[in-house]
Amino acid sequence: MADTATTGVAAAQTKEPLIRVEGLHKSFGSLEVLKGIDLAVNPGEVVTIIGASGSGKSTLLRCLNLLETPDTGHIWFHGQDLTAERCNINKLREDIGMVFQGFNLFNNMDVLDNCTLAPVTLKKMSKAEAEKIAMEHLTSVGLEKFAHAAVGRLSGGQKQRVAIARALCMNPQIMLFDEPTSALDPEIVGEVLEVMRKLAADGMTMVVVTHEMAFARTVSDRVVFMDKGVVLEDAAPVELFGNPKHQRTREFLSRYLEDK
Ligand SMILES: Nc1ncnc2c1ncn2[C@@H]1O[C@H](COP(=O)(O)OP(=O)(O)OP(=O)(O)O)[C@@H](O)[C@H]1O
Ligand SMILES: [Mg+2]
Repeated sequence: MADTATTGVAAAQTKEPLIRVEGLHKSFGSLEVLKGIDLAVNPGEVVTIIGASGSGKSTLLRCLNLLETPDTGHIWFHGQDLTAERCNINKLREDIGMVFQGFNLFNNMDVLDNCTLAPVTLKKMSKAEAEKIAMEHLTSVGLEKFAHAAVGRLSGGQKQRVAIARALCMNPQIMLFDEPTSALDPEIVGEVLEVMRKLAADGMTMVVVTHEMAFARTVSDRVVFMDKGVVLEDAAPVELFGNPKHQRTREFLSRYLEDK
């Protein structure tokens, strides 16, 4: 979290946000999904994004690493404008780790090969060095004994922890999570959240789309509530959950808490 930041040191020294989004718009055909998003994420911060289905959370996250191309507006990462034509997308993706709901692992490879593929092919790391780093990250997510297991034999929670370890192997400056626990059985959600909690405590900058309100409340520095393509509220968890400013936020929270 903010106090224990160990990543994005250069940005911290200049007091620049690691990511700054300004006036971001994105439409799919005639459907305007993002309607002018402003957002800043400081080094070491954990920002959670909550909101109803279809409010544009995933689209915003995918714009941050250019999996979607913004229509208008700017995204600054370390002071570099990602929407500028000469932005190096491949380098950017090395610096921004992403974890998806559906794991997106290579099922025909073992755990270790999943983790070493990108460092070896993109960063030109030696296999031995990549394996050493991968074992460190697999150990940190509690899966060192599964290094040579086939991905297909793992549980959902184990797969998601491999996906997190794999992303960490690229030594990212920020980690984006899109509903990382939504596809998991309730009893194994906790093991993934625990890994994320540890990552946050170690100072990783994180943007997390989630419906896990307890996680949002206890781990985030800020919670962003998105509604129909806009950021309606952006506040500390104690404020957003304890004293929401907008009727829509109150409705969302009460509906959500009723469902639980
Ligand atoms: N590639 C696409 N092409 C067309 N429409 C899209 C595309 N991606 C998203 N949409 C639409 O944009 C809207 C917002 O989608 P998005 O996935 O960002 O919402 P979300 O807040 O992540 O929702 P959920 O909580 O269900 O994941 C939805 O109406 C969705 O159908
Ligand atoms: Mg989504």
